[in-house]
Amino acid sequence: MAKLIVDSEYLKDVDKARRELRALISNKNCAPIMLRLAWHDAGTYDVNTKTGGPNGSIRNEEEYTHGANSGLKIALDFCEAVKSKCPRITYADLYQLAGVVAVEVTGGPTINFVPGRKDSKISPKEGRLPDAKKGVPHLKDVFYRMGLSDKEIVALSGAHTLGRAHPERSGFDGPWTKEPLKFDNSYFQELLKGESEGLLKLPTDVALLDVPEFRHYVELYAKVHYWLLIIHFNNDYVSYWQLGFCTTVHFKSLFMSQSRT
Ligand code: HEM
Repeated sequence: MAKLIVDSEYLKDVDKARRELRALISNKNCAPIMLRLAWHDAGTYDVNTKTGGPNGSIRNEEEYTHGANSGLKIALDFCEAVKSKCPRITYADLYQLAGVVAVEVTGGPTINFVPGRKDSKISPKEGRLPDAKKGVPHLKDVFYRMGLSDKEIVALSGAHTLGRAHPERSGFDGPWTKEPLKFDNSYFQELLKGESEGLLKLPTDVALLDVPEFRHYVELYAKVHYWLLIIHFNNDYVSYWQLGFCTTVHFKSLFMSQSRT
């Protein structure tokens, strides 16, 4: 089992923050943008230099004004309301917890949340997050830099089962699925169907069909039973929620030692 690196008072704040986030996300129907916030704080991680990652640095104006983060100030402000009620919790933990709760509230897996991330004031240079207009080599460059695998690239892209693109934020428009507030595998099913009236496919989404090492997982996730999806999502989401915080293997074994609640 993982050794917790926080004390019992901190854990109480985590529990309170979880409850606050659950209420906020349900009331405001803002699960997608909260998940995107968690991902954009974590997705700057560089496994070689051990820089970036889920360290709360996205709260710095210098970083949330990066082009890729357009719109995320809304989610940062939502989190600030929770932080004021649970002051001990770090921003780094709060943002990842918001992502965990966003997945849970929309019907996804219950993810084991391990607290203890430290906040950083240092923001990475712009350009570490993926560019939606690019293809396979770019996706591999960006996700391998984080220490993630082909399978994790595909599973994590499944987060686009939630939410939508906004023209004023990214220049893209529309949801990926017919029920953008429901966490399921419809993103993969829609991807395999091809063009669909009113639904979006980014170039990076379509790229998942371009090479067998990605396509294999798209096809698997499009047809698997829910429980298998839950296990894969859990493993892969846990990997990214812990980027640079503890080793993936460690947390995978932590997850595997627990049953789903
Ligand atoms: C594979 C590379 C990825 C690219 C290029 C990408 C790009 C984008 C873009 C362009 C948007 C639209 C933003 C807007 O206009 O509001 C978006 C939204 C979103 N992304 Fe990604 N994304 C990627 C991976 C991920 C991952 C790994 C996650 C989470 C694990 C994620 C979660 C989301 C969510 C939930 C939304 C919807 C936000 C909302 O409805 O406000 N994305 N993404």
